[in-house]
Amino acid sequence: MKNPKKIITVIGARPQIIKASAISRAIQTTFPEQLQEVIVHTGQHYDENMSALFFEELHIPQPGYNLNIGSGLHGAQTGKMLEGLEQIFIAERPDAVIVYGDTNSTIAGALAAVKLHIPVVHIEAGLRSFNKSMPEEINRIACDHMSTLLFTPTRTGLENLEKEGFSVEGTGPGSADNPAVYQCGDIMYDNSLYFSTISDERSSVLTDLNLKPGDFVLCTIHRDANTDHAEKLGSIFEALLEIQQLSGKKIVLPLHPRTKGKLNEVKEETLQRIRENASIVMTDPVGFLDVIALEKNASMIITDSGGLQKEAYFFRKPCIILRPQTEWVEIVENGNALLADADKTKIVAAYNRLIQKDDFTFPAFYGDGRAAFFICEKLVNDLK
Ligand code: UD1
Ligand code: UDP
Repeated sequence: MKNPKKIITVIGARPQIIKASAISRAIQTTFPEQLQEVIVHTGQHYDENMSALFFEELHIPQPGYNLNIGSGLHGAQTGKMLEGLEQIFIAERPDAVIVYGDTNSTIAGALAAVKLHIPVVHIEAGLRSFNKSMPEEINRIACDHMSTLLFTPTRTGLENLEKEGFSVEGTGPGSADNPAVYQCGDIMYDNSLYFSTISDERSSVLTDLNLKPGDFVLCTIHRDANTDHAEKLGSIFEALLEIQQLSGKKIVLPLHPRTKGKLNEVKEETLQRIRENASIVMTDPVGFLDVIALEKNASMIITDSGGLQKEAYFFRKPCIILRPQTEWVEIVENGNALLADADKTKIVAAYNRLIQKDDFTFPAFYGDGRAAFFICEKLVNDLK
């Protein structure tokens, strides 16, 4: 029998750890003879509830390596990752390196691999905000152009790649000079379907936070464009206060550590009103099974997270996007979500519009829940 192909999966930030569970599960259940996975954690996220928690609850194999890089300025953080990853790739000699999304761990993994002539597999390729002030936009464009196999979740992603000169015929095997592009659906749709019933069985978050189904709005904030400008963060909180008052619903905010660290920069008067309002429930970050329970039972989701925007769609909830634009354009074009930036007036107006809307539709923009199997099949067949 042929040796399995050795794949190194690079992860670092919370959403990548969650995404990686879909591929690890597909390898374990369907491709254990053909694919061998070594997980490398850069250590970009390191708090228990931003990292370790997910390995346990999502049954992700423990990383073979953890670089423990931690937080830092973009250059320093990415540079340290690059150096550490290069050593591991040289020692392990993988047949390919998988990177996810658009974080500093993504760009470091792709750059270290391509310079060693190791094929880069980019999962979540082709997404664009057309806003290069976002660090993620730089990371994803650069990563796509270093990749050998590009897996895009959406039709829009495929079109974006075609406009940048990629051939999108979907023919392997591909090389760095002649990459192969596939539209395969979203592995996070796979995960949301898979973990939905497990969340129903295991999550106690509604009881723990004393929440009733339909009686709360879920909100997350972590983009640097919002957290690093006190007036923008303040404007979002002012909007949440107004929505709480006009709706009477609770607002549940699992706070990203970045946001928690910036809270005290918000105007004291706003902070005081938030603290005094018992219906604004701030918590530490929660696990994926808990976040699914919150998403399924919220009346609406307000977020600047890429992941939450789509999960709102998967669980058929309206969404207010706290950004000027999104890479997940289909949910806005289809009327499931509204862009409101960090503008109090727009956020409140979006709430009022979405709460009255009763003709939502949910076309299958994100595939059939089998993206991870599709990707693994291509890895088996396309990699030399
Ligand atoms: C990173 C990604 C972003 C992604 C997000 C997911 C980049 C450039 N950004 O943003 O695309 O949407 O992850 O959550 O890669 N911190 C902790 N504990 C942790 C992790 C972070 O306290 O475990 C704090 C530190 O103060 C740190 C700050 O959060 O400086 C920001 O962390 P960092 O990983 O640099 O960026 P994120 O905002 O998390
Ligand atoms: N998430 C989680 N716990 C939380 C908040 C988010 O498990 O307290 C999950 C969420 O369901 C999604 C992913 O983390 O799958 C999104 O990560 P994040 O918002 O940090 O990053 P982004 O998707 O914007 O890159």
